[in-house]
Amino acid sequence: MMKTLIIIFVILLLIAPIPIFGINGNSISKGSSLYVENPNDLLTSPNSIFSAGFYPVGNNAFCFAIWFKNSVDKAVVWMANRDQPVNGKFSRLKLLKDGNLKLMDAGRITVWSSNTFGRSILQLLDSGNLVLKNSSQAILWQSFQFPTNTLLANQYLTRELILVSYRSQTNYSSGFYKLYFDNDNVLRLLFDDRMEISSVYWPDIGLVSWEAGRTTFNDSRVANFDSNGHFQSSDGLQFNAIDYGMGPQRRLTLDFDGNLRMYSLEDNGQWFVTWEAFIKQCNVNGLCGPNNLCKYSPNFGRTCTCLPGFKLKDYSNWMHGCQAEFEVPNNISQVDFIGFSNVEFYGYDLQHLSNYTLDGCRNLCLQSPDCKAFLLKFDHNTFNCYPKVVRLLNGYQAPYFHGTLYLKVPKNISASILSPNSTTEDQSKLYCDAGDTTIQLQRDYRTKDEGGLLKFLLWFAVGIGIAEIICVLMVWCFLFKGQHDSSKVTQDYDAIFGFKRFSHDELKKATKNFREEIGRGSYGVVYKGKLEDGRVAAIKKLIDGSDQGDAEFLAEYMENKSLAEKLSKTSLSWERRYAIALGTARGLAYLHEECLEWILHCDIKPQNILLDENFHPKVADFGLSKLMNRTGARHSSFSRIRGTRGYMAPEWVTNLSITSKVDVYSFGVVLLEIVTGENPGIVDEERNKMMFNTQSRGNLGLNYRERIQEEREYFLIA
Ligand SMILES: *[C@@H]1O[C@H](CO)[C@@H](O)[C@H](O)[C@H]1NC(C)=O
Ligand SMILES: *[C@@H]1O[C@H](CO)[C@@H](O)[C@H](O)[C@H]1NC(C)=O
Ligand SMILES: *[C@@H]1O[C@H](CO)[C@@H](O)[C@H](O)[C@H]1NC(C)=O
Ligand SMILES: *[C@@H]1O[C@H](CO)[C@@H](O)[C@H](O)[C@H]1NC(C)=O
Ligand SMILES: *[C@@H]1O[C@H](CO)[C@@H](O)[C@H](O)[C@H]1NC(C)=O
Ligand SMILES: *[C@@H]1O[C@H](CO)[C@@H](O)[C@H](O)[C@H]1NC(C)=O
Ligand SMILES: *[C@@H]1O[C@H](CO)[C@@H](O)[C@H](O)[C@H]1NC(C)=O
Repeated sequence: MMKTLIIIFVILLLIAPIPIFGINGNSISKGSSLYVENPNDLLTSPNSIFSAGFYPVGNNAFCFAIWFKNSVDKAVVWMANRDQPVNGKFSRLKLLKDGNLKLMDAGRITVWSSNTFGRSILQLLDSGNLVLKNSSQAILWQSFQFPTNTLLANQYLTRELILVSYRSQTNYSSGFYKLYFDNDNVLRLLFDDRMEISSVYWPDIGLVSWEAGRTTFNDSRVANFDSNGHFQSSDGLQFNAIDYGMGPQRRLTLDFDGNLRMYSLEDNGQWFVTWEAFIKQCNVNGLCGPNNLCKYSPNFGRTCTCLPGFKLKDYSNWMHGCQAEFEVPNNISQVDFIGFSNVEFYGYDLQHLSNYTLDGCRNLCLQSPDCKAFLLKFDHNTFNCYPKVVRLLNGYQAPYFHGTLYLKVPKNISASILSPNSTTEDQSKLYCDAGDTTIQLQRDYRTKDEGGLLKFLLWFAVGIGIAEIICVLMVWCFLFKGQHDSSKVTQDYDAIFGFKRFSHDELKKATKNFREEIGRGSYGVVYKGKLEDGRVAAIKKLIDGSDQGDAEFLAEYMENKSLAEKLSKTSLSWERRYAIALGTARGLAYLHEECLEWILHCDIKPQNILLDENFHPKVADFGLSKLMNRTGARHSSFSRIRGTRGYMAPEWVTNLSITSKVDVYSFGVVLLEIVTGENPGIVDEERNKMMFNTQSRGNLGLNYRERIQEEREYFLIA
């Protein structure tokens, strides 16, 4: 009869505030998310210039974006989902375990994803580039490859990439202007309203490419600007920011008004234009729509005004242009022309006729039913005639334009059109897109959810109620029937371990405050004690507990022979061996997964598997066991090697973290021993000798041997 008594220090979980796993300043790792509700869920570049996170773009509408942290307007440089903003509640950006970066709207709709695969982390770099990198620093995805309307220093615009402007000053969705490399290798600006009008407006299409300083011969199609503010494109376009030199942060942005501008960030957080494609703002196409005149003044910026006799189609948006309030009669004797000086409309020319008189041009337009107006322009010392058909587009009025537009109108109203009264209401007050207001985000599930949420809450409440009743019943049963009636499963585990839980006070009482010492090992002191039922016990108090919180003891009683002894006598039938293996495995599984804490036994060997009279195995001797904090890092640090030679997992002598696998390894060895009856210790000793001989210089071998000796010492004492 053998009496073993072992105590385990149970380190209770200190209920610590749950840390946000995975967000680390400028990066997030797999499995973690940034949440729209949490304004602090931001990535910040190490140089503290850029931030990435959820950016409000409207009422309850957010886009995942990168912006200049220190600019007053928090200028956005990149957006993931500009055309599909997400809800301000329950949306998040998640780096999935499979390596895909997903932006999920409430209701789990994936709005955007990087379509990447493979373990990686998401990092915001100093350059403003958001990257997914794998462990070998290879970039799997980067925001620089998917620009929206802005290029940053050292970001390349290449043949596949297009910058697309914002819709308006307040609406960040895809607008009407594009910067791209055309098929002839020239970098161009295009106006495209995605309905009927699409026109290139830069470089000036009146010029052939070399007149505009461009070449079509270099097909590398790449453009960028460096940290000094020097821009260079493979088509020959080059320019410097006016504040050329290292220093300010810069961006090249295709603005919502169709102008391409380079900005520098000043110390006060304001942006300063250091280059722009159009100084004449009104030369940008499509700004004001058909029959609309663009005017630019430094004070008011750019405004649009309908031609006399026309009125705005859409008062909230200049771009839709103006429509005529009259109809031009077919009878040419009822038709007249009124002239507007310094007004140009660009494009839609029927012909280009040089050295023409006013009368000649007038007659030409009069005779052609499709002709809407004609332009007479003094150029190259003669008058040139441009009859206009289909529509009057890209109009502007500016003193530097030396020409006059003659508009075709009915004769009987031509006088009233020109009267100051008739000039339609003062539209110049309306800035382009001034009426563009932020729009409440509409999402199907929002309306659905109104009813759904109520239902959900109701069912939730019912569920909670039922759960509560069950709990109360269970507690009641437990209290009145006692521990012995607890479920069959617990009984099984009790049978395997023979656990009985003692409080620290009980043990203190049993040992008379740990007075009578009967032994001492490297892991603790053994005391003699007398339990309440009269049994005498040895109680070991572990000293390995620097990180102990509120402590509690578990004690275990075993009074049987060990598996080692039974095996050496080979008196076990196969059924019994099988039952023992299964029972031990169950016990380990319980320790590792289902116990209150996760416990590593650390010393699984036949000597520690005790058998009762029915040959039911009981896993014993928790002298070396380690409790793992269930929620924290599983590789808690072990100060020294634990276990018995022959059964010890290789993790102990390498830098690998110690997990429940060390027990599984030992169990594997035990399993082999159950099957073969052979003790692995002998085999292992030979192997170790070989190892130490071949790596005699290695610290590893020496340490290993020293530590094993230390363990041996412990076992001798125990
Ligand atoms: C990282 O990605 C690169 C390129 O896809 C690949 O060659 C490399 O094997 C990856 N490294 C790891 C550790 O997955
Ligand atoms: C084409 O442009 C690229 C980028 O600007 C430049 O490096 C290369 O030398 C150019 N090639 C030729 C033939 O000019
Ligand atoms: C055109 O209008 C003039 C004057 O208004 C009129 O005399 C003439 O008959 C009209 N011609 C036709 C074909 O209607
Ligand atoms: C314009 O036409 C007139 C008459 O047809 C001619 O005399 C004159 O030389 C022309 N001017 C130019 C610049 O071609
Ligand atoms: C001008 O003449 C047209 C027919 O040619 C007529 O329908 C219209 O009412 C007239 N408008 C005015 C203001 O007289
Ligand atoms: C302009 O309108 C005013 C009042 O609205 C009127 O007195 C004046 O006669 C009008 N002028 C013309 C040319 O119609
Ligand atoms: C931006 O403009 C688009 C197109 O007009 C519109 O559908 C969208 O709702 C607007 N977004 C916001 C936030 O106003």
